[in-house]
Amino acid sequence: MANITTQQANTLLQGHIHLRAMQNKDLRAVYKLEKLGQPRPWPGWYFRKQLRSASCWVLEQQGMIVGFGIFSMVKHWAHIMNMGIAPGYRRQGLGRRMMLHMLGMASRQHARYCWLEVRSTNYPAIHLYHSLGFRKKQLRKNYYAIPSGTMNAVVMVRKLQED
Ligand SMILES: CC(C)(COP(=O)(O)OP(=O)(O)OC[C@H]1O[C@@H](n2cnc3c(N)ncnc32)[C@H](O)[C@@H]1OP(=O)(O)O)[C@@H](O)C(=O)NCCC(=O)NCCS
Repeated sequence: MANITTQQANTLLQGHIHLRAMQNKDLRAVYKLEKLGQPRPWPGWYFRKQLRSASCWVLEQQGMIVGFGIFSMVKHWAHIMNMGIAPGYRRQGLGRRMMLHMLGMASRQHARYCWLEVRSTNYPAIHLYHSLGFRKKQLRKNYYAIPSGTMNAVVMVRKLQED
């Protein structure tokens, strides 16, 4: 699937954006989005693996993948594993929409808590998670290897249901 330029994105912004389950045919486009959004992207095979074992979602507009989100469940804990929104589509509420969808899905699967890891300098993502009720619980030093060295991760947690 073709990558999206900012210009294309802007001309399409008014159209309907559909949230649906990720499929095999989306993997190439999802991987392209990942590379646009992460200093150390997941490898393509890892997305393929998650598609078999985790809960994987995409945002699609007129056949183009403009966002994705992946979470997994372990007992009563939901783990937001990854998400990304195409650069030309950010600050439109799509990241929040994807997160609310995943939190709703996790609640329906009886998750009591949700947690995630995020680069300590990823302020857009940290703001998004904080605005949704996530709070910083732990700092994991040198958690991510990136081309220029290592980066710290922040673990954020949100309660979903009463015990
Ligand atoms: C993080 C990311 C998913 C946010 O997606 P988005 O669609 O732009 O987010 P939204 O438009 O839903 O924003 C929701 C809230 O998040 C916060 N936020 C989002 N981008 C922000 C930014 N650049 N600076 C500050 N706050 C930001 C704001 O609180 C915002 O609410 P507001 O617009 O009412 O102020 C997106 O920036 C992205 O794909 N980044 C690259 C990949 C990535 O970092 N993924 C997270 C991995 S842990």
